Amino acid sequence: MRTHHDPRGLPITGLNPAQIERYERLLHELYAYRSGVQARLDDLLREAPGFVLGHVLRGYAVMTDGLRSGLPEAQRFLDLSQRLAATANERERLHIYALKMWIEGRGAARLQALEDILARWPLDVLAYRQLTAMLFWHGDKRRQLAVAMQAIPHWQPSTAGYALTLAPLAFALEEDGRYALAEDYAQLALSFNPTDLWALHALVHVHEMQGRASEGEAAINAVAGKLKEFNLFRGHLWWHLSLFLLSQNKIDAVLDVFDREVFPTPSSFYLDLQNAASLLARLEIQGVDVGDRWDTVAHACEQTLGQHLVVFTGPHQVMALARTGRKQALAQALQGFNDDGQAGMEQAQTGSAVAAAVALYYQRAYRPFLNLMRVMRFEAASLGASYAQQDIYFQLMVDAALQVDDLPLARSLLKERLAKHFTDATEWLRYIDMTHRIEQAHDPKVLRGFLRAGLLQQPPAC
Ligand SMILES: [Fe+2]
Repeated sequence: MRTHHDPRGLPITGLNPAQIERYERLLHELYAYRSGVQARLDDLLREAPGFVLGHVLRGYAVMTDGLRSGLPEAQRFLDLSQRLAATANERERLHIYALKMWIEGRGAARLQALEDILARWPLDVLAYRQLTAMLFWHGDKRRQLAVAMQAIPHWQPSTAGYALTLAPLAFALEEDGRYALAEDYAQLALSFNPTDLWALHALVHVHEMQGRASEGEAAINAVAGKLKEFNLFRGHLWWHLSLFLLSQNKIDAVLDVFDREVFPTPSSFYLDLQNAASLLARLEIQGVDVGDRWDTVAHACEQTLGQHLVVFTGPHQVMALARTGRKQALAQALQGFNDDGQAGMEQAQTGSAVAAAVALYYQRAYRPFLNLMRVMRFEAASLGASYAQQDIYFQLMVDAALQVDDLPLARSLLKERLAKHFTDATEWLRYIDMTHRIEQAHDPKVLRGFLRAGLLQQPPAC
């Protein structure tokens, strides 16, 4: 069969030009988080079973679900792609290898394989999007930005798929604290596609970090009516909306969004569990009665104990299990994380230690929790996720310090929490002003208000 090329000139094994056009549309839908992409990819694979990268991409998709129970299915797609390896080109064989490394839990080798692809074929948008997404959960923000920065000069606005490169760059810049540039790239991506959810996500992270809650709320509300057309990532945008509402003290609205969109039905999807547990924890720290919502989340956690491969999920499962007094499930979860660490699973030792600390918080052992968590508070970032998500560690630490009446420690942690989020002279002045306000606060309720407020934002009245 004659080999045809994608719109960027890269050879694609197993597809004719019309099918390559469909694949190109699928990539745009996939990385905008549209629903139904995998079914359409399956249709394409039925028509073109020799489409090597299609089998690899299905394997990537199964692994993205982050469940051990998905490993046999991912292996099936790996086997299908390996059977075609003799017909594949060198770039496609590196993708097969990257999938193999992912299934075997060898994250460092997986990342390096994708970097090798980009070093030689910088217009491989599949490698670029996979790599930048994977680095998110590896907690390596510098490398995430480095990958985006080394790839981006190879792309021109006239290059097919140019818009697909912008959102990862915007997000990497945001996590690096370069908020103005991040916002520019996010807006540029949204000018190509107003429902590019990863670009919108980068934009609302800028809003979150800069305390622009009403702007973030408006940005998400602008697409809210369309979010049902997107995959489960949409729940994370609802989570962001909840944070904006919480920082404006709109508690009823937060609970409503939780019930309708963040955790409307029991879900074992790792991001849903993270969003739900993290939001309930934040609400309770603000003294909000969340009713029996923890039970729903804890029950969902029990259904997939020992299944989650995204290590950042573990501490969130523990939050729900410990908070609801599920002692047996909690012990089982902690033992499982410990076993993963002993077995040498990447990130698992740190994940296990953080999970054990979080359990102490919910067992009201606040001082032991602080003793453990304070030592690990920077190392915990290696479990991945964004600064906004990792803030849960600070939320719990500040609350624990207040629970044991250690106001100096609470103030210190609050200042530290803000310290990395200024980038220019104006923000520096706001940072100094905020630290003075924190120093002058003596009421625990006021100090908790700083947790509720967006970073570098004056907390609203309680
Ligand atoms: Fe986020």
